[in-house]
Amino acid sequence: MDRYYASSNRYDNPDRVYRRCGRSGVLLPKVCLGFWQNFGADASFDNCRAIARMAFDYGITHFDLANNYGPPPGAAEEVVGRLLKEDFAPYRDELFIATKAGYDMWQGPYGSWGSRKHLMASIDQSLMRLGLGYVDLFYIHRYDPVTPLDETLQALVDIVRSGKALYIGISRWPLDALKYANAFLRAQGVPPLIFQGRLNLLDRAVQDEGVPAYCAAEGLGFISFSALAQGLLTSRYLEGVPEGSRMSRAGSLKKELLTPELLDYLNRLDAIAQERGEPLASMSLAWVLAQEGVTSVLVGARTPDQFKESLKCLDSPMFGSEGLPLYPNKVF
Ligand SMILES: NC(=O)c1ccc[n+]([C@@H]2O[C@H](COP(=O)([O-])OP(=O)(O)OC[C@H]3O[C@@H](n4cnc5c(N)ncnc54)[C@H](OP(=O)(O)O)[C@@H]3O)[C@@H](O)[C@H]2O)c1
Repeated sequence: MDRYYASSNRYDNPDRVYRRCGRSGVLLPKVCLGFWQNFGADASFDNCRAIARMAFDYGITHFDLANNYGPPPGAAEEVVGRLLKEDFAPYRDELFIATKAGYDMWQGPYGSWGSRKHLMASIDQSLMRLGLGYVDLFYIHRYDPVTPLDETLQALVDIVRSGKALYIGISRWPLDALKYANAFLRAQGVPPLIFQGRLNLLDRAVQDEGVPAYCAAEGLGFISFSALAQGLLTSRYLEGVPEGSRMSRAGSLKKELLTPELLDYLNRLDAIAQERGEPLASMSLAWVLAQEGVTSVLVGARTPDQFKESLKCLDSPMFGSEGLPLYPNKVF
């Protein structure tokens, strides 16, 4: 194995790469790397390593994980644990590592959702797999309509107080619950750092609900996941479903989504991107980054080149006042 030396140029252009996360002390890259797919036990470790190295060489310091990312659940944290040990150990303090708990992780009544029991066990499991003493950011991954919010939020506070996480994040909670969490956590002296929700050109529900605007007003960061709509907002599907693409595999991106109307819209967007002199992926990400309250976009990549294409949004031209044509329907 060749020893990794990170590029000496990786922090040459901080204003181009980073944004302040709400009113916190933390700067995050505008484009961050997500480990939901492509980093499981079925992936080539060398390819995972190449993507992570490439990202860090461009100053991408934020890696987003969850307990259940794989397959199988836990595998992505194990892959990153190995990368942290073999490649990134000298750079631990340059990295901002997030993980989450709340989706199905292990069998039985404590393997999921927002109980104190689940969260306390899950953070310990994640730290073991990652080989870390603490994560920088720990999220509650989804809203649990049954567990009292105070139980979940108090567990998050206690995780921070125990030193196992530095900051708290909230993912996929409705706005009213986010408001409750914000007040609760502030009263405990552990304000939430960031909200994670899906915002892209094909899904603006979270924006319609007012979440990024609320985050901006309250000094929380907002990071958009699946900012490329799982690949739809790239050139991947402009002529149908290619072999090997996420949509071609039975999984999280259903073929039924790719209607003639959607294809037509994607091709119209692509023509605009070409006029602007950038790839569709980069223009799509630039659109998200231009929305009020948005700190960063979280993107996945199956190859280093895909991630490199996403990074082009850091140099995207500004949008005119007319913005971009919006697809009328929520696709997901
Ligand atoms: N909080 C939550 O509940 C939640 C939910 C989902 C995701 N997330 C986070 O968000 C991250 C990103 O989500 P995502 O993986 O759905 O992101 P995405 O960036 O919307 O989609 C990534 C996929 O799009 C395709 N792609 C990316 N760049 C491309 C390019 N330049 N050309 C062609 N295809 C390209 C690749 O798929 P193929 O090459 O395989 O087609 C890639 O795996 C996750 O890793 C995770 O960290 C969080």
